[in-house]
Amino acid sequence: MKDYFSKHRSSDEWLIKEHRWDKKLQPSRESQFALGNGFIGSRGIMEEVPFDARPGTYIAGLYDKTGAQVTELVNLPNPINLKIISGGERLGAGTMDILHHERALDMKHGLLTRHTIYRNSHKKRFDYQSLRFVSMRNKHIIAMQVCITPLDEAATFTVENLLDLSVTNVGFLTEGNKKHFRVEGVSQFDTGEYLAVKTLEKGMLIAYGKSMIIEKGHSSRFARHVTTQIKLRKNQTACITTIFSIFTSDNKDTKKIKPVVKGFLRKSANMGFERILKEHIASWDRLWQASDVRIKGAPHDERSLRFNMYHLLICGREGNGESSIGAKTLSGEGYRGHIFWDAEIFILPFFLYNRPNVAKNMLLYRYHRLNKAMQIAESRGYKGAMFPWESAATGEETTPAWAKNFDGSLIQIRTHEMEHHVTADVAYAVYQYYVATKDIRFMLKCGFEMIFETARFWASRAGYNPKIKKYEIKHVIGPDEFHEDVDNNAYTNSMVYFNLMAACGMYQKMKRLYPKEYRRLSKKIGLKKGEVGEWKRIIPRIALNLKRNGLIEQFDGYFRKRKVKLRNLKKHPIPPIPRSIKLKDVGKTQLVKQADVVMLLYLLPDKFDIKTKKKNFYYYLKRTVHKSSLSAAVHAAIAAEIGNIKMAYRYFDVAANMDLTLLYGNTDDGMHAASLGVTWQAAIHGFAGMKIFNETLSINPRLPEAWKEISFCLKWQGYNLKIAINHTKVNVQFYSKRKDFLKIKVYNILRKIEADKAYNFPRKRGG
Ligand code: BGC
Repeated sequence: MKDYFSKHRSSDEWLIKEHRWDKKLQPSRESQFALGNGFIGSRGIMEEVPFDARPGTYIAGLYDKTGAQVTELVNLPNPINLKIISGGERLGAGTMDILHHERALDMKHGLLTRHTIYRNSHKKRFDYQSLRFVSMRNKHIIAMQVCITPLDEAATFTVENLLDLSVTNVGFLTEGNKKHFRVEGVSQFDTGEYLAVKTLEKGMLIAYGKSMIIEKGHSSRFARHVTTQIKLRKNQTACITTIFSIFTSDNKDTKKIKPVVKGFLRKSANMGFERILKEHIASWDRLWQASDVRIKGAPHDERSLRFNMYHLLICGREGNGESSIGAKTLSGEGYRGHIFWDAEIFILPFFLYNRPNVAKNMLLYRYHRLNKAMQIAESRGYKGAMFPWESAATGEETTPAWAKNFDGSLIQIRTHEMEHHVTADVAYAVYQYYVATKDIRFMLKCGFEMIFETARFWASRAGYNPKIKKYEIKHVIGPDEFHEDVDNNAYTNSMVYFNLMAACGMYQKMKRLYPKEYRRLSKKIGLKKGEVGEWKRIIPRIALNLKRNGLIEQFDGYFRKRKVKLRNLKKHPIPPIPRSIKLKDVGKTQLVKQADVVMLLYLLPDKFDIKTKKKNFYYYLKRTVHKSSLSAAVHAAIAAEIGNIKMAYRYFDVAANMDLTLLYGNTDDGMHAASLGVTWQAAIHGFAGMKIFNETLSINPRLPEAWKEISFCLKWQGYNLKIAINHTKVNVQFYSKRKDFLKIKVYNILRKIEADKAYNFPRKRGG
């Protein structure tokens, strides 16, 4: 049988394959095989939508709230809904026998291809092949081609492709399924169909266009109705091409959006499937050119890493001015699509060094909600801006009151009351963005203001304790959510220290270099010199919990908690909570949910020496159960830095394959976005040793034995760097249109490199 789509499929190292249809794996495959372009996210359902499938079509930033505890990412009508019926029997998994089945996600070009052979109850076989993509070139297009061939005798098919309105959000906990939209208009036009829906709370308009073309031999025709008949001889093939377009509008005017959709669809239909596909592929080629990581000697790791990067690339959005990324990307409804610190700390760095405009958009998302953050601070009696723990469209706090615990029981959520570190995390990301891009325009328009308003918040949040002569931050939850309502969480306090330091530094810089803009901003936000003086007073007096023996106490009283040590970590890097400890009592013990002190060692690399890093890493490792997907890759990065490469590699392996091995059992609800991002960080910041020390780019690699070479590109302060590292040397070059040089550190030595020249820096013996 001819393979219709093999010509488009990349080589095996770019493919994630499914070789048989397994009903149980269906929802997790839908997340793994998700397609997207930063605007649209589309779960990788099978086109016939088998029973129990969970179609998901999401638009970045499109949230609504009706009958839900809190606002959530809306699951929109499903365009991928193809019914093919022959002799009264429907082609589909679950309705016919499957004699052969293979699906492949082509990560290189964002294509989902499929080949299935069905057999009906009369033992007649049908060949089914499909290719689908969400255009990376044109954000409004989803395109699909399906080729069907009767293999044993002539057959007549009824083909129906109806935009599926029965879709609902799954509804976690006790809420049940929820529909967030109602139909506004349906109509037919010469080249296709039109459907508009409106969200129930905000009245956001979403308009779909669809055109379907049937090709048989040399003839081709538009399917003018929702259902169409196709007659085929034995071994004759028909290809059904469907092009969908999706537009949104918050001006809520159906009359205006309809002609846009119609015109767009006509244009796309005229362009034809092949050209749309070609442009989509070219866009993906450009994306990978800028961001691929090659790992010689370890094809398995290279592929897993690419899988993580693929899922990041399909949710990065450039160009519309703002957009952030939820904890489960746009591949599922987990965490209701909300945005956490995952965005700034775990996901943003990948974009910062590959597609800085996406990173900027993520920060603009926060900037445009700075006023809301100021309202949150005020409502709690603080100054400045306090970002919500969970955020969605408006920037209000959207953490639900209840959630399911690991054992399935319902628990009350307190993170929104106390997990305040997110505010410092946002400021940290703004600072990283500035250092890596030197984008002063962004800083003058938004960044300085964000850093000052967050510093302001912390100055009002910290309280001076004259007894110990320290500023304390009480009643918080650190990244380790097992311990609620603690005082002086080391991670939070250190990030506050960073936030205030950054604010003082930026204040000086702005005043000196941009006096006009400084005057404008200080007038706008009422910033006074005395206030900056207060930040300066707080900085050296923040309680940081570093003890004389070099250990950092995670929070006041942590060392007095019940001691539990986890064993056998070599065999079980992600250990279970010991059976003797009940989940409800976990807070009474020293068990840690996820990297907390270790997170701090990772984010502030120049604040601690290697000895302190080693001591704390091993201490907390024996107490950490990694009940969050955010933890493993951070451990990989620090283990690499302190020279335990074997352990680093073990944690890297866990993180890189997390959603492929279904480690946390909830990939059904979407990909673990933070883990995707921090897996890239473990490879680049950890093994390749690329870090920023004192605003200088530094490369100090420690590769796993199996990796013969790692090579990648980086965007750094407007330059494109190409880096290749093996066990004996670092090769660096950068390109610049200006005649220029850069100062970077390699193997701890500061080097001056000129543009367009390749440099080889050999590793010193024993280095
Ligand atoms: C983690 C948080 C994280 C959230 C969303 C929680 O389980 O503890 O750190 O932000 O999941 O990924």
